[in-house]
Amino acid sequence: MEQPSRRHMLMAGGVLGALGALSVATPARARPLWTWSPKGSVVGAGQGADPRWVWDEEADPLVASLIDDGEVPNVNKLLKTWTKNGQALPAGLPDDLRQFIEEARRLPSWADQSKLATAFTFNQKRGTYLGVCYGFVSGMMSTAIPHEARAVYYSKGGADMKDRITKTAKLGYDIGTRNAFMPDGEMIVTCIKTRLAHAGVRHLLPQSSYWTKVADEEIPISQADMMVTWHSLPTSVMRQLTKWKVPISDDESAAYLHSWQLTAHMLGILDEYIPNSWDEADSQAAQVLDPILAPTPEGIKLADILLNLGVTIDGGILTTHILGALTRYMLGDRIADWLRIPREPVWDPAFATLWPIFVAVKEGLLKITDAPPALLEFYWAFDEIIRLGTLLFLSGGNFPISIQIPTTNNPN
Ligand code: HEM
Repeated sequence: MEQPSRRHMLMAGGVLGALGALSVATPARARPLWTWSPKGSVVGAGQGADPRWVWDEEADPLVASLIDDGEVPNVNKLLKTWTKNGQALPAGLPDDLRQFIEEARRLPSWADQSKLATAFTFNQKRGTYLGVCYGFVSGMMSTAIPHEARAVYYSKGGADMKDRITKTAKLGYDIGTRNAFMPDGEMIVTCIKTRLAHAGVRHLLPQSSYWTKVADEEIPISQADMMVTWHSLPTSVMRQLTKWKVPISDDESAAYLHSWQLTAHMLGILDEYIPNSWDEADSQAAQVLDPILAPTPEGIKLADILLNLGVTIDGGILTTHILGALTRYMLGDRIADWLRIPREPVWDPAFATLWPIFVAVKEGLLKITDAPPALLEFYWAFDEIIRLGTLLFLSGGNFPISIQIPTTNNPN
């Protein structure tokens, strides 16, 4: 029998993608129509196709064929040595993968290095808030995003959340570095490896009997899903900083957005879906993020796993309570209750009272001598969280961290 060539496989992958879209098109009619205009995107134009039926037509068939041909372990091993944006790709990679990466690693014409430099200043100044927000706004919110919670729970990474967090934290770290998108930085590499991992998940999850039983889609991680998760990151972070009245200059705000717009592009999100301003981001988030937040059994279990990761370090005596209360404070009662996070009689009121004071002191709006003595307790709790985060990070992964293309789903 004639061996199918990779070209055939790629074409078949494209057809499968289209079939998947068709076969799930009926139930989707019940959902609101996609009305966000590509005029509000970074390129100001586009086809305006509903992103629920768009995936990654370059990476998906390529990675599917790598998985089916058994090439992924070798590719993962080779890519482990590729860490810097400007570094040459290792020898021995399949030609089509090499071509894909060479194309995908190029920054778009709209990338603006001066904005990226300002974004670094912003990250330096606001690192504490950003760290807390990435963990307890974006990270915990992901467990209340049904598509993401199910995908994470039933994919390979769902079996080892510590390792997953360590790898995800790398993206949050890399984006905040001085040289994130420069030749000696690592963010482009991290994004492309993540893009490949997502393509692997799109191929593998539909083969999981656990996932197919509960999923309301046939192929995971659509462009709409990508935008949902994207909004759980910069858009939700900016909403929090605004709520806390953290003073942010217009150019720093625009620069922070720019670093995330570029991240979206490098992750394979089409330019026509990437909002060109915070107003456009808010309007898109109102359409794609806010209405879909909901509890799922998988999300509840993931939230529980995440909040209990510290148990291995301090027996959970304090950390679980503090982390639960911090999540409740950041995401509000509705999401915290969905995730079945217990109420904390001591820590819930403590965060409600002391977080605004903490911000006011940090921003120089209140003298520390005028703050209530309980603020010291809060600083202690904060130190605990940072200590715990560092220990978890250090104990979670194999260093140096390398995001991998998965070859299996979560076996459990
Ligand atoms: C893997 C970030 C969107 C599901 C990863 C990884 C990163 C990442 C850094 C590598 C970590 C690892 O290998 O464990 C992001 C960002 C997103 C995004 C920044 C959007 C802006 C999504 C969405 C879904 C999703 C929308 C699902 C609906 C997954 C899964 C894995 C993964 C299942 C693989 C875990 C495994 O190896 O089994 N993502 N992601 N991600 N992501 Fe995403």
